[in-house]
Amino acid sequence: MKAVTWHGRRDVRVETVPDPKIEEPTDAIIEVTSTNICGSDLHLYEVLGAFMNEGDILGHEPMGIVREVGKEVGDLAVGDRVVIPFQISCGSCYMCDQQLYTQCETTQVRDQGMGAALFGYSELYGSVPGGQAELLRVPQAQFTHIKVPSGPPDSRFVYLSDVLPTAWQSVAYADVPQGGSVTVLGLGPIGDMAARIAAHRGYDVTAVDLVPERLARASARGIRTIDLNALDTTVGDAVRDLTGGRGTDSVIDAVGMEAHGSPVAQIAQRLTGLLPDAVAKKMMQTVGVDRLDALYSAIDIVRRGGTISLIGVYGGMADPMPMLTLFDKQVQLRMGQANVKKWVDDIMPLLTDEDPLGVDTFASHTLALDEAPHAYDIFQKKRDGAVKIVLRP
Ligand SMILES: NC(=O)c1ccc[n+]([C@@H]2O[C@H](COP(=O)([O-])OP(=O)(O)OC[C@H]3O[C@@H](n4cnc5c(N)ncnc54)[C@H](O)[C@@H]3O)[C@@H](O)[C@H]2O)c1
Ligand SMILES: [Zn+2]
Ligand SMILES: [Zn+2]
Repeated sequence: MKAVTWHGRRDVRVETVPDPKIEEPTDAIIEVTSTNICGSDLHLYEVLGAFMNEGDILGHEPMGIVREVGKEVGDLAVGDRVVIPFQISCGSCYMCDQQLYTQCETTQVRDQGMGAALFGYSELYGSVPGGQAELLRVPQAQFTHIKVPSGPPDSRFVYLSDVLPTAWQSVAYADVPQGGSVTVLGLGPIGDMAARIAAHRGYDVTAVDLVPERLARASARGIRTIDLNALDTTVGDAVRDLTGGRGTDSVIDAVGMEAHGSPVAQIAQRLTGLLPDAVAKKMMQTVGVDRLDALYSAIDIVRRGGTISLIGVYGGMADPMPMLTLFDKQVQLRMGQANVKKWVDDIMPLLTDEDPLGVDTFASHTLALDEAPHAYDIFQKKRDGAVKIVLRP
């Protein structure tokens, strides 16, 4: 089959690799019909390269048709149309019983001290072959799937793998009071969708980015935006100006570890990309390597006693945090990978022909799987208006 494979910093290729096979009775094989590139893939493309191995298959946002099943996959059957969540979870352990699927105790990557295994997400998350491929082996398939009806186009459902539940969780964790206000930092796919969901719920939303077409997408949906490039104050001051000097009730950080505006950490990240893997891993563990500009902005923007929801991914083990401010402002912090299946029943009623969240037009680009190297390049560089790219195997 053809698959998108990792070969080094900013080097992904489309190669022919062996077809996956059923290995466990709980496995299924799906034929992938749509598979997205995610902002999380960009971290692997550059900063987290030390944890990748040459030839690893990327991707964790696939959907398709079940082609083969093991003997213990419950009611999953050949021919079913399914979206595959980015995390692999059993559905029946202590953590899954609490709907903390990204902490599944059956698939936790214990040798790395990490949570549930993820598709296509480095040795930190189990080195599981990913879904940017023609075929995908789904472990724990009895639970690791979302059945969707046939009929509507893939675009209606494909974001259930990650964008929709992740954005939904970010809004839920932001704990905005009824009719309250929230600032969304970052208008990549995750922040864009989080802003749409927050607005749909009737909150007062302010969204922040610095890429013109991303700001324009949010404004077109009636969301107030702040362009970082047009500010001559801090973003905290700009938000306080809009909120009687107080700041918003909640802030969602949908930027994560590669924030713009963090020159020192950018050099540290660049350096880790050039070091031998063993040294780079050590550095990630002992030096604050995250670019924390968005997180620092969040701490500044949130009103006293408010909540910050971190949905952007961070990876440093020794990041410097302004504990005095966090403590004094009495900030609540919630974070983590999205527990995808926890939110599906809430989201499904919004995936109708009326399309209130705009999923049918959410992708800026739909490209052939063969074009993956170009797709990664324009998505990382934010060229050609690339916001969300769907690949078609
Ligand atoms: N927690 C989860 O389960 C989960 C799931 C998916 C993605 N993510 C993470 O969410 C983050 C966003 O993902 P995405 O797909 O939207 O990626 P993206 O890289 O396209 O979006 C990031 C956006 O942030 C903007 N930005 C950069 N610096 C900023 C700053 N200082 N202030 C405001 N905006 C700034 C960028 O211009 C960009 O538009 C990534 O870190 C990704 O890894 C987390
Ligand atoms: Zn993703
Ligand atoms: Zn489990």
